Amino acid sequence: MDNNKRPADMQRINTPALAEAFIMEQVEQVRAQVGDKKVLLALSGGVDSSVVAALLIKAIGKQLVCVHVNHGLMRKGESEQVIEVFRNQMDANLIYVDATDRFLDLLAGVDEPEKKRKIIGGEFIKVFEEEARKLEGIHFLAQGTIYPDILESDGVKAHHNVGGLPEDLHFELVEPVRLLFKDEVREVGRALGLPVSMVERQPFPGPGLGVRCLGAITRDRLAALRESDAILREEIAATGMNIWQFFTVVPDFRSTGVRDGKRAFDWPVIIRAVNTVDAMTATVPEIPWAVLQKITARILEEVPGVCRVLYDLTPKPVGTIEWE
Ligand code: XMP
Repeated sequence: MDNNKRPADMQRINTPALAEAFIMEQVEQVRAQVGDKKVLLALSGGVDSSVVAALLIKAIGKQLVCVHVNHGLMRKGESEQVIEVFRNQMDANLIYVDATDRFLDLLAGVDEPEKKRKIIGGEFIKVFEEEARKLEGIHFLAQGTIYPDILESDGVKAHHNVGGLPEDLHFELVEPVRLLFKDEVREVGRALGLPVSMVERQPFPGPGLGVRCLGAITRDRLAALRESDAILREEIAATGMNIWQFFTVVPDFRSTGVRDGKRAFDWPVIIRAVNTVDAMTATVPEIPWAVLQKITARILEEVPGVCRVLYDLTPKPVGTIEWE
């Protein structure tokens, strides 16, 4: 039997009871696979890795070692939430690595989007590898591979260390949610008691805020990006609107403003919001004018160095969802 093929008769996990049954079954399977050995997991705080972490904590407790790498490009409060939920509430074995300076130093002056992505991805593996080498007795690597990953990569991702760890770090894989679709992973996450804000989290690219701080990343613009993004999230949440993905972007050019009677030459903030089914095409939701005005007022009032707020009205195509 192909372990990476979803059986035709597999039921869609769309109720808490089905999620519970799945969890019980996986707990048994993971225990049987792992025995008394140790498992390593890169825990980003995204839906998939968080659900795998919670599932494995239930199955094998402290035999799971989670590593959370903060690359300095997380949204406001995300790393803190990972620590709060997994270390403080679930008592997980969690290694927190604040690698902000390493990433930002490497990225200084780099303005090409693909180069930025390569640096962020490559450095992430390096930091994770360094942590893995410090640990003893790790036999398994857990991954939040989900079924669309297997379908899209024709099974390739499922058979390799996704992160691209070097050959000598040879771990067997533990991929408990590899046959699930995203909505099922969320159902399982809810049943495992993960916070709604984590389970319902919108897609967040691996390079994080790095591709939203346009051009060469600077710490001042990154701070403006993080703060404005947090305000946007707060205000959209308060409306109860269900928008697929939304965030702010800070370009690498300034604009003239006037503040306290004096000329300012500060950064614009662009609001990007889209609805989509598969991210291949996307439409722009009609956010009520009053909400946009409130967000604008708050960003201008609360975020230093920002003098202008824009709403991006471009559907995909032609504009991609991210700006770079
Ligand atoms: P675009 O910008 O191509 O985005 O319309 C489609 C979806 O993919 C996400 N995205 C990324 N995700 N690494 C990721 O993990 C990336 O480099 C990356 N670039 C774009 C984007 O947020 C959207 O959901």
